[in-house]
Amino acid sequence: MQEKVIIHGGFFSESSTTNEVKVAKQKALKDIVEKTHEYLKMHTAIETVVYAVSLLEDCDLFNAGLGSQIQSDGKIRMSASLMDGVSKKFAGVINIENVKNPIRVAEKLMAYDDRVLGGEGAINFARANNFQFYNPEIPQRRLEYEQKSASKRIGTVGCVAIDKEGRLAAATSTGGKGFEMPGRVSDSATPAGNYATNDCAVSCTGVGEDIVSAALATKIVTRVSDGMMLQQAFEKTFKELAEFDGFAGAIAIDKKGTIYHLDSHPSMVYAYTDGIETFVFK
Ligand code: GLY
Repeated sequence: MQEKVIIHGGFFSESSTTNEVKVAKQKALKDIVEKTHEYLKMHTAIETVVYAVSLLEDCDLFNAGLGSQIQSDGKIRMSASLMDGVSKKFAGVINIENVKNPIRVAEKLMAYDDRVLGGEGAINFARANNFQFYNPEIPQRRLEYEQKSASKRIGTVGCVAIDKEGRLAAATSTGGKGFEMPGRVSDSATPAGNYATNDCAVSCTGVGEDIVSAALATKIVTRVSDGMMLQQAFEKTFKELAEFDGFAGAIAIDKKGTIYHLDSHPSMVYAYTDGIETFVFK
C-alpha cells in the first residue's frame, strides 16, 4: 500500500483573513504534510497522525495548542482526540489547560481503560504523566479576545493517514470556538469530529455543535463501511448537514487509499501528499 497523509488547518475567514496569513498557513501546511509523509515511511498510521497534529499544535497560525482561542472567562481550554482504525480505540482530552500538546496527552490515554478525560481530571492525568505547565496563549489571541473578534476564527487541526500496511488512523485538536461558556464540549474529542475504522478515517473542523448534530465523522465512516463510495458518503452526509445550515469541513482516507475532502462553506485549508506530489488547498 502507498502511504498517504492529509492534514487540515481549519477554515479561512474570507472577511477577516489577510492574504499574508493565508500564504503563511499554506506554507506551514505544505511543510508539515511533507515532514509527516517522511515520518509515515518509518511509523504506523496512529503514530503519524499524532506526530502531524503535534506539529500543527506547535504552529501558532492554527487554533490548537499554541495560539488557541480564549474562552469567555479569559482562559484557554483545549480538546484533542485520536482513533486507531485497527484496534478501534478512541482516546481524548476535553477542556485541558496549560499543556503544550493536548494530542500527546490523548495518545498517553490510549493505554488506559478510562480513555476520555475532561477538565481537572485531564489536567491531573497530564501532570502525573510529566506534561509540564505550558501557557499556549499568544499576544494576538489576547488582543482578539479584548476586541471580541475571535468568533471570526473557526479552526481546528487534524490529520488522517494510511500506512504501508493499510492501517488507518485519525487525530484532531482544537482551541474551540472562542468566547464559549466554560464547560462547553467541542466535537474534536468526540467520534462526531474524529473517527476511524479499518475502512475509513475522518477528521472534521467547523462549528462543533453542527458537527455533533450531524455526527459527521461517524456517519461518513459508517456509510463507507456499509459499502458506499467515499465521495457518495461525504455528499450524503453533507446534504444532511446542509438541512440545518451546518458549518463544517472534513478530510478522509479510505482503505483503498482514496483521499477526499468537502466543506459546507468557504473555505477550509488542507494539504495532502503521496510522497510524489503535494497539494495545498485553498
Ligand atoms: N470544531 C471545534 C469546535 O467547535 O470546538
